[in-house]
Amino acid sequence: MSDREQKDVETLVPGSPENLERYKQFMDVVLSRRTTRSFDPDFVVPREHYEMILEAARQGPSGANAQPWHYIVVEDDDTKEKLGDYFVAEATKRAKLKMKFPTPNYAGMKTSPGLIAVCTDFRYVNAFPVLNDGSELDDLYHQNAQRILLQSVAASTMSAHLAAAALGYAVWWVTAIGQEDAQNDLKPLLGVPDDIAVIDIMCFGPPAKPPYDRWKKDLGEIASFGKYNMDNYQSLDDIEEWVRTQRHRVMYKDKSQID
Ligand SMILES: Cc1cc2nc3c(=O)[nH]c(=O)nc-3n(C[C@H](O)[C@H](O)[C@H](O)COP(=O)(O)O)c2cc1C
Repeated sequence: MSDREQKDVETLVPGSPENLERYKQFMDVVLSRRTTRSFDPDFVVPREHYEMILEAARQGPSGANAQPWHYIVVEDDDTKEKLGDYFVAEATKRAKLKMKFPTPNYAGMKTSPGLIAVCTDFRYVNAFPVLNDGSELDDLYHQNAQRILLQSVAASTMSAHLAAAALGYAVWWVTAIGQEDAQNDLKPLLGVPDDIAVIDIMCFGPPAKPPYDRWKKDLGEIASFGKYNMDNYQSLDDIEEWVRTQRHRVMYKDKSQID
């Protein structure tokens, strides 16, 4: 048996000492993935790191194995500047619309050492169970197909974020893209064809300052064994209350500052 085959056999033993060690290393990567919104502008990401990060994305799971994603690496400073300008402008627009959504500063995007635009092709909903007969039932299948598509891209993107974290980068997942006209503004900058949508941007680099500790819900709050634990059920009023009184406290603050 070759070393590689031997290793494959060992990794198939759940909870083996070797796998517990792997889990620890994996959690180390998971816990080191922290959002940062400003990076060391002088750092240059080697091409090899981009490839390693995108290789992790490539291995992501997807509905029907459709792999409905495309990643555009942006290395050109001028393009980064223009993308950053777009997001700063979008944040200003949201502030004027009084959405009450606490907006971060998007200026850090302009000098982000690593920047990857995440694209998808919504025509791939046809790879999932749909009727395409214009019926109301088909609307429901289409809604689900779109969820499958977005979950697929998110799964692949998350692998990229974890790979970047494993390499020692702080990351930033930006979806503040705005409405349909955003596509018209962003796509020409990246040469994206009409049929393809830019759905988020991944920034990464050495953080300008150490990332703060994030507030995360307890395990008992987010998981149930057996049946949905109704202790954790929230009514719409509860959620609206959370948005009004808690959201701004947990978004951009160290968890020690949340009482
Ligand atoms: C789907 C998704 C969308 C996000 N969109 C934005 C965004 O548009 N702008 C931003 O600054 N952060 C965005 N984030 C980052 C979140 O604010 C961040 O993940 C959250 O505050 C928790 O912090 P953590 O990533 O360090 O665990 C997004 C994250 C995810 C997963």
